[in-house]
Amino acid sequence: MIVLGNSESWPGIGKTAEHLQTGAHGLDALVPGLSLVEAETKIRSVGYGGWPNLLGNMEFDASVMDGTTRDYGAVAAVPMTLEVTRLAKAVLDNLPHTMLVGEGARRYADELGFDKDPVLLEHSKQVWWRKLEKVMSAEQKAQFPNTALAPLTKAITDPEKVRDTTVFLCKDNRNNICTATSTSGWAWKYPGRVGDSPIPGAGFYADSRYGAAACTHTGEMTMRCSSARTIVLALKLGMGLDEALRLAITELQELKSGYIGGVVIHAIDAAGNHRVVNVGCEEEINYWVWTPELEKAEKHKAILAEDMHTARVEALP
Ligand code: GLY
Repeated sequence: MIVLGNSESWPGIGKTAEHLQTGAHGLDALVPGLSLVEAETKIRSVGYGGWPNLLGNMEFDASVMDGTTRDYGAVAAVPMTLEVTRLAKAVLDNLPHTMLVGEGARRYADELGFDKDPVLLEHSKQVWWRKLEKVMSAEQKAQFPNTALAPLTKAITDPEKVRDTTVFLCKDNRNNICTATSTSGWAWKYPGRVGDSPIPGAGFYADSRYGAAACTHTGEMTMRCSSARTIVLALKLGMGLDEALRLAITELQELKSGYIGGVVIHAIDAAGNHRVVNVGCEEEINYWVWTPELEKAEKHKAILAEDMHTARVEALP
């Protein structure tokens, strides 16, 4: 068994480990862990601690994936909902669909009896407006919110480098490998912007026979490269974990146009080995890992992509 979580996973990784130790299926262990992260106000990129979009509204993305069946459920740009990972799991469990977005996702949350909650802290609201004010002209301010938002997205891109996510990957005691993700997405994003967290193959992918990967930070890049699926497919084709990661890193580093930023890749293989790689983030990146030998989850530093010797993998075996 193993649980791997990104730097933001600390409020919930212990809960996930507890559930795994009692024999829970990976997905049933991941969701309660993610719910604790969503409820933690100190985590500034997920749930209550997250930042709003340009209009000052919270919109959340989340997913769960079962690597044994390759079933997944996801929700995107959901308003007024804290426990979006639990909602994504309900999509997987109950609907003939895989993803719901926006008002449709909120409607389904209503049907399930989820609380309706703006999930915007007063402090976040004040910071949102202060930063927005600084980039608006007097005319834009007078017209807000009935003014074009697109110019503001450029002016205010990532003011606090907040486009993180919570990702959890686990292998349970029956060798099911599963992933779960949850995020409020980019701070001050254009309303309706969806990142990689609910997109299978980009922000997450799991196949219990080979392994799983999940990404944080710049979803605009992992969506272009299908980074999570690349890693799991490379494992399937016979590469080792590091070789699979090098392939995904090289593909990300080949991107020269569009929005370029950092990405952090979290991956495990079917044997329970793990690797977390910082691809171009300026700040130090940490992650959490738990295995049954450990009393509690441990914090480690991610390896830098430069240290993975990112030579181009020329040919697949
Ligand atoms: N990786 C999180 C996002 O791009 O929304």
